[in-house]
Amino acid sequence: MTSPRDAKKRAQFVPWRSAGNRTETGGTADDIVRSTGWVFNNETGSELTLEEFVATGDKEVRRYMRQFGFGADRLAPLTLLEIGSGIGRMTASFTQQCTHVIAADVDAAFLERCRETVGKHGRADKLTTTHVQDGSTLALANNSVDIAFSYITLQHCQRNDALGLTREALRVVRSGGTVILNYRSWVLSDIALIPLGILVRLLWRVPSIGKQISGMRWATRFGWQANRLSPDEVLQDIIDHSQKSLANITVYHSPFQVRHVSHTNAQVKSLKRVNRSHWWLVATAAGS
Ligand SMILES: C[S@@+](CC[C@H](N)C(=O)[O-])C[C@H]1O[C@@H](n2cnc3c(N)ncnc32)[C@H](O)[C@@H]1O
Repeated sequence: MTSPRDAKKRAQFVPWRSAGNRTETGGTADDIVRSTGWVFNNETGSELTLEEFVATGDKEVRRYMRQFGFGADRLAPLTLLEIGSGIGRMTASFTQQCTHVIAADVDAAFLERCRETVGKHGRADKLTTTHVQDGSTLALANNSVDIAFSYITLQHCQRNDALGLTREALRVVRSGGTVILNYRSWVLSDIALIPLGILVRLLWRVPSIGKQISGMRWATRFGWQANRLSPDEVLQDIIDHSQKSLANITVYHSPFQVRHVSHTNAQVKSLKRVNRSHWWLVATAAGS
């Protein structure tokens, strides 16, 4: 486990801290969405409201959960952990549908705003939050949730943190529960994106300009994708290092980017509207 102080030094946390600081400067929830909304789902616009921002999350939550077999009736009695909740774009929807939701994020200021978002557009009585202080460990008991969910977050962590959070997701999901985790893997444009990303993360560390460019959309969008993980790499890490195993494994990928999986027990399916660079791991946790 990395100490929270060491974790703070990591370049891939820079854009989140920068946006997190902006959420602390005050302003209405709508102001916060206008200044940081692009950090979460690329929504921009001087007229953007928190309500519209949360509506995009609700739409995605309902579509993905239905596609993964979790309609409203099945979700209703469940406790769901969301890793990388941000300011609650999807969390509000989860609280409308589940019995209890735990929002986890590396940025404590986002979690504060997440509570505010859920207070306005979800069910605050169903929400608890947990700060992922070191970027890879969840302060939650073993077997304490039914579903561990994560969307557009594990691609932004250092590789070891993404794998660590995957193992943590499996640890906290009860046996028979489900992991629903989204990753980014290689696409052709990475030939240019990877070196540009490294360059931007180096620039974030330069005192005179780092702070300034960490708040700029173009630079952040190059620098924040800190890892690429293939389904085989994730599944092998679970086999090698997790106390629990996975059953009913399905890897979902974009129809435009087929993913090869050698793990013999995994089904591989294409799913409409999955981003070409993304893939999802949906599987049942087995063991204690
Ligand atoms: C692109 S945002 C997505 C937020 C949310 N899932 C959504 O779709 O609106 C990524 C989120 O992951 C969080 N994050 C990044 N690295 C993390 C880590 N190592 N542990 C927990 N959260 C992390 C960021 O602070 C940010 O809130």
